[in-house]
Amino acid sequence: MGITTKFKTVAGAAAAALGVFALASAAMAQGKAVPVSVSVDPAKTGPVINRDIYGQFAEHLGRGIYEGIWVGENSPIPNTKGYRNDVLEALRKIRVPVIRWPGGCFADEYNWRDGIGPRDKRPVRVNTHWGGVTENNEFGTHEFLDFTELVGAEAYVAGNMGSGSPREMAEWVEYMTSDSQSSLANERRANGREKPWKIKYFGIGNESWGCGGNMRPEYSADLHRRYQTFVKAPRENPVIKVATGANVDDYIFTKVLMERAAHTMDAISLHYYTFTHSWEEKGPATGFNKDGWVSTLKNALRMDELVTKHSAIMDQYDPEKRVGLFVDEWGTWFDQEPGSTPGFLYQQNTLRDAHVAALTLNIFHRHTDRVRMANIAQMINVLQAMILTDKEKMILTPTYHVFDMYVPFQGATPVAARVEAEPFTHGDTTLPRVDVSAARDTSGKLHIALVNLDPDKPARVTTEIAGVKPRAAKGRVLTADRIDAHNTFDKPNTIQPVAFSGRVEGGKLVFDLPAKAVAVVAVD
Ligand code: AHR
Repeated sequence: MGITTKFKTVAGAAAAALGVFALASAAMAQGKAVPVSVSVDPAKTGPVINRDIYGQFAEHLGRGIYEGIWVGENSPIPNTKGYRNDVLEALRKIRVPVIRWPGGCFADEYNWRDGIGPRDKRPVRVNTHWGGVTENNEFGTHEFLDFTELVGAEAYVAGNMGSGSPREMAEWVEYMTSDSQSSLANERRANGREKPWKIKYFGIGNESWGCGGNMRPEYSADLHRRYQTFVKAPRENPVIKVATGANVDDYIFTKVLMERAAHTMDAISLHYYTFTHSWEEKGPATGFNKDGWVSTLKNALRMDELVTKHSAIMDQYDPEKRVGLFVDEWGTWFDQEPGSTPGFLYQQNTLRDAHVAALTLNIFHRHTDRVRMANIAQMINVLQAMILTDKEKMILTPTYHVFDMYVPFQGATPVAARVEAEPFTHGDTTLPRVDVSAARDTSGKLHIALVNLDPDKPARVTTEIAGVKPRAAKGRVLTADRIDAHNTFDKPNTIQPVAFSGRVEGGKLVFDLPAKAVAVVAVD
């Protein structure tokens, strides 16, 4: 399937007019709309969008787990068996399909035995990666896996290949998945869980090139082969084995892993974070200018090149595409919020993050042949979070709203969508003006996501759907007056989606898409 975005100069412009009055006035205030043509061809389809690309990552880092998810049964914060009710409800609403835990870098120092048994007897460790704070291990294997069941998500457990032994890894898997009468399975029962859990994904290490052991790819490939040998979930309760893979554009890493170990893995991971400029110059999460908007979106769009090139290497060793490429850490990484605890990676989340999320999800929709799982970093209070909490208060971020709007794409079949428009240029940077993704859900309904990257100009998006005479298109749009609009604990609804619709003109759908906006519509 070819889903392409083509740039071309299109003469003329049309006036903006929106289905929602408030948006119409906002769009008119922004000035003339730039014409954009979109052609959708429902006959050209790609492999199904695995709903697991909407996965989340929750590490023992800052307030991601403690306070974010777990407050304990005796907390005054309303909770179910220790898990915050407000967070549970919010996560269920966006149908979180899978959660990765316990790290990240934390995973490669984690001994699973620290997190089982009576909570008051669990050892206290130092979280050496993240702020040097004490980790009392109140949240361990049972707490995580029960949590996934409460949310309705699958579990992705990351094993320790950095500082742990193959025996530790093997025993953890047996403890979680065995229905036998082995001592480990009975220990699980004694700790309160009769039935084995279903562990859909198991990670053999994390970032072995860095915090997970500073390994060369050759050594990492050999260790992967060795450790995974002992990961023996029962045949009737198997796990998908994920090899720790490359950072950003380290194509050699992917090549070596595939060459030497592809036959011992089901998937290989890729990590890519979006900074405003670079690791050294991450930039502020709020209060940035147009340059910060543009360079961040440009960096986010690099995901397409990375996935394309890593996939091409994988194709050489696995032309049948058996091995998945799991982007199990992605998202924005900015300077942490002034005044927040060092090492906790707490950052605000703006309309810019919403654009990064939407553009990245659209890219994943175009690579469903390989990208069959992904985990945004991280779910709560860390990096590009869905949810921010301040003790008993909770807010939903613009990124959350994108995940909510994109729910119809989970499990849908992507269809070809082509965009023609003059590109958006700022200084030396040229970006696509509007990015589009289209897919049919399992009931056959067509959904279209439209992202306007231009912070100033609305777009008049004329959409033709081959072989279809649309009657209407309705959905929601997320936009705001400011590029760094965000929600705060005092003003939790500054930015949230509102109703949005297109109109039919000459058999085509016309959308008046505001500047700096993400919209998702269902077509009738
Ligand atoms: O998500 C934060 C950290 O980023 C993870 O612990 C690590 O895997 C990555 O470098």
